[in-house]
Amino acid sequence: MTTAPTLGTHPPADLSMNETPYPPLPSVRRLVEQGAGALQRYPDRTSSALVAALAGRLGVGPESIVVGPGSAGLCQHLVQALGPRPEVVRAALSFEGYPLIIRNVGARDVPVPMDGYRHDLPAMAAAVTGQTRCVLLCNPNNPTGAALRRDEIEEFLARIPADVPVIIDEAYREFVTDPQVPDGMDLFRAHDNVCVLRTFSKAYGLAALRVGYAVVPSRMTPAVAMTGAVFFPNSLAQAAAVASLDEAVTPELTRRCAELAAARAGLVDELRGLGLTVAPSEANFVWLPLGERSASFAEQARQAGILVMALPGVGVRVTVGTDEANARLCAFVRTASAAGV
Ligand SMILES: Cc1ncc(COP(=O)(O)O)c(C=O)c1O
Repeated sequence: MTTAPTLGTHPPADLSMNETPYPPLPSVRRLVEQGAGALQRYPDRTSSALVAALAGRLGVGPESIVVGPGSAGLCQHLVQALGPRPEVVRAALSFEGYPLIIRNVGARDVPVPMDGYRHDLPAMAAAVTGQTRCVLLCNPNNPTGAALRRDEIEEFLARIPADVPVIIDEAYREFVTDPQVPDGMDLFRAHDNVCVLRTFSKAYGLAALRVGYAVVPSRMTPAVAMTGAVFFPNSLAQAAAVASLDEAVTPELTRRCAELAAARAGLVDELRGLGLTVAPSEANFVWLPLGERSASFAEQARQAGILVMALPGVGVRVTVGTDEANARLCAFVRTASAAGV
């Protein structure tokens, strides 16, 4: 018996993937529905409308913008393009995609132990050698939610040789509320070895379409232009991203991010009130350093209909979801605590 193909379903409280709890913007949804009628067509291979919209929004020349299939795909593109030195320096407890990206391009992973929940920037600077291809900074950091401040990044950049690119991954930038956390674009303007990576997957809610962008200093653009896959992003993703940059929808997107940051603060307070240690977060998720209890916490949450992301022996990452999903998580923690779990 064959089963009918479907787009898949999502459990009601999937707090494991750092997705936004909001539905697509009506204007974006309309475009994607219209685009379904022209799936036989190839996309604009230069993504001209999207590149122009981003260049306008960010105040940089179009040559500095590289668009691609999500910031993970772009991260791999940059790390590949920035060869041939073999080593990539990164924080040890950071985005789980980095080790795979580094392996995929045949580079050597140099994970630097954390300073608590945070990147240990002095140790990362000390790990940079003549073998270093580039450094990855994840700000705010996935999975711990910690954000690096302007002064410490500036101090770090002052220690990094000018020919070593520093890629600042700002997948969660839009959820930051701490004014001391810098906008990566300011660092890009001040240093010609800084690249910025951003995505439409999180705050813009386009994770399924796979679209993100990198901002790259002009001296690196020839190398970046020589690599990378063709015909990405797809046409629906390009159109949806352009529509998401329209000033008419900016207030709604900004409101959503502010509402999510407020929900994050409420969730952190409530979980701490229930006796859990919760790391301070500037992203759309919170980190519970549960150590050896991590895997069993995630399994019991799963049995209660809530999906979270566990790193066994280390901690659990919980995405800030809808009010209903957040309440369900807190109810689970209350019951689990009462049961002595
Ligand atoms: C830090 C970080 N960078 C990049 C990505 C990949 O995002 P995208 O959907 O843009 O590929 C993620 C996804 O979770 C992430 O956490």
